[in-house]
Amino acid sequence: VELSFNEPFRPQFHFSPPSQWMNDPNGMVYWDGEYHLFYQYYPDSTVWGPMHWGHAISKDLVHWEHLPIALYPDENGWIFSGSAVIDSENTSGLGTKDNPAMVAIFTYHDPIGEKEGRDDFQTQGIAYSTDKGRSWTKYEGNPVLKSPGIKDFRDPKVFWHEDSERWIMSLSVMDKISFYSSPNLLDWKHLSDFNPSWAAYGGVWECPDLFPLTTAEGEEKWILFVSINPGGPQGGSATQYFVGDFDGKTFTSTTQSVKWLDWGADNYAGVTWSNVPESDGRRLFIGWMGNWNYAQVVPTHPWRSAMTIPRSLHLSKEAEDYLVISRPISELKNLRTESLAIEGKTIALDAELLEIELKPNSSQFQLTFTNPGSEELVLKSTGETLILERANSGLVDFEKGFGNEQEANLEGIRINDLTIYLDRSSIEVFVNGGSLVMTSIVFPSAPYDALQLEGFENLNQMHHLKSIWR
Ligand code: FRU
Repeated sequence: VELSFNEPFRPQFHFSPPSQWMNDPNGMVYWDGEYHLFYQYYPDSTVWGPMHWGHAISKDLVHWEHLPIALYPDENGWIFSGSAVIDSENTSGLGTKDNPAMVAIFTYHDPIGEKEGRDDFQTQGIAYSTDKGRSWTKYEGNPVLKSPGIKDFRDPKVFWHEDSERWIMSLSVMDKISFYSSPNLLDWKHLSDFNPSWAAYGGVWECPDLFPLTTAEGEEKWILFVSINPGGPQGGSATQYFVGDFDGKTFTSTTQSVKWLDWGADNYAGVTWSNVPESDGRRLFIGWMGNWNYAQVVPTHPWRSAMTIPRSLHLSKEAEDYLVISRPISELKNLRTESLAIEGKTIALDAELLEIELKPNSSQFQLTFTNPGSEELVLKSTGETLILERANSGLVDFEKGFGNEQEANLEGIRINDLTIYLDRSSIEVFVNGGSLVMTSIVFPSAPYDALQLEGFENLNQMHHLKSIWR
């Protein structure tokens, strides 16, 4: 069936699967003019089930072409989250140097082993493609890394580490991250573990990502992303990160405070693209715009879940601390159709897809989106905290905690600017150029058609955006 991508709540400039259940983004890799996005997918239902890798490609990270399912479960199990690399030097022998293999490294979750009460039912497997990701072959020696007897042993994120001339895998092992290395993607050796006592625990650690970022002053640090569920700042799922050093064997965090990539309730399991050309130079990120607390009961049909807008990640050094900045990718500007100045306190919105740029003139401000059904979505700053209120934002009672206030601590932060992306069922707030982010899904029963502003400069900007599906 040809889907309209125009159903109620269907994201218009965010990636969502044509139908059925999606969770984590997987295997993001750039190759030959195409950004690949794979994702945790269950093609038989709108709730989580036996996992596959769905697949889409894009030339600009904004417009997506849906491709057939890339990876199906096999005798080793369901296909959980993982990553993909281009094996340019053909270290694995699965391609050639002229036509390098795209190699996916993922977790096999064996439901039978789980049912039988074994503790080694998660292993790592490999699949490869030599035709730009269009067809996939599972490696015959799978699994390539077996569990030492720990149930949660998953989500391999792999990159080529120049200095040690090895592939490095970050892996979630219950509530620690283990690092492995390999010369060829097939034979893996344990290097070290990371689980400092002061980190955020509270649930399992999932979907790690280890990569370098350089500050504007030219200082390179290694960043480790760890998604945790539950235990996030708004309850349920969230992504914490660490800033430190990596010597090819061990990751050491050089600061000792818990840092959240996103303070909103709905940005989980996000990781970065591999093989982005050096000429581009960006570290590109996408996250799952969901939270395990309620993702399976959100009121959408015939699909469930969407991804965040893609973001580029940057590192800034502030006093003795480091901060990962998330910026909406500049390609999103191509969706602007009309740009308008915002004047006054009550603004009629004649479009439902919006990018809004605002400058507060006070540390206390409030903006309220309203619709004819008297529903409202509120973002306000008390000076100490930034609060997102969706208690009366639309459909909320599919889960008890969905209407809880979302709060971000503003200690030491003066808000100078806000950029807000509003789609049919989400709001993404970028504070001070992306130093603080809040991503949240919402389900207004009619589009918000007015915006009230309190505590802002008189001249702000609003851009109408066009749908990526039409
Ligand atoms: C994170 C996660 C991963 C796992 C996948 C299963 O949301 O739980 O740890 O690989 O989802 O779908």
